[in-house]
Amino acid sequence: MELQKVSLRKIGDYTIRRCKREDMPLVISINLTSLPEHYSDLFFEEILNELPEAFLVAEKDGIVVGYIMCRIEYGSSILRKLRLARKGHIISVAVLEEHRRKGLGQGLVEEASQALKNRNCSEIYLEVRVSNSEAIRLYEKLGFKVVSRLRWYYRDGEDAYMMAKAL
Ligand SMILES: CC(C)(COP(=O)(O)OP(=O)(O)OC[C@H]1O[C@@H](n2cnc3c(N)ncnc32)[C@H](O)[C@@H]1OP(=O)(O)O)[C@@H](O)C(=O)NCCC(=O)NCCS
Repeated sequence: MELQKVSLRKIGDYTIRRCKREDMPLVISINLTSLPEHYSDLFFEEILNELPEAFLVAEKDGIVVGYIMCRIEYGSSILRKLRLARKGHIISVAVLEEHRRKGLGQGLVEEASQALKNRNCSEIYLEVRVSNSEAIRLYEKLGFKVVSRLRWYYRDGEDAYMMAKAL
């Protein structure tokens, strides 16, 4: 329990740390206001239980303003043909609009990537709407490359880019 309180990174007045169960209502509300892709409360709980070291939040004055959640998958490598790989998957990341462009998205992705690397993942990947230029720029800045375009990936028919990077 004590470990969960450890701050992973300070960014100005913000702290990046592991998500706690009591953060969940704010995490869910940030998801609802920031992204069209929503999940059940149970799904958030399951992801937190499965991989707490890569479910992180950014907070300021005790208020959560951003989150990232990930899981680990084992299967075909995205980066190396005909190989198997342990892959970190970023399921969702968001920062409240008024707290953007302060380095929090970058900090969350970097800290989650490190946690996935520590859990022996050799690559990390995600899906992003082709129209989401802010997020695409963030991932490109961190070294992710577009590896494929997934047609009609989202419910509204928009395509996704799959982006990946070796860890
Ligand atoms: C994508 C998102 C998480 C970025 O969070 P953020 O805290 O604003 O990102 P950062 O401040 O860490 O930005 C890091 C880099 O990303 C890029 N970036 C982020 N926002 C950008 C914007 N509005 N315009 C251009 N580049 C942007 C820049 O390269 C930036 O580096 P720089 O500030 O040195 O130029 C945030 O915009 C968000 O929550 N969007 C809505 C939810 C979403 O789309 N999530 C991703 C789903 S795949």
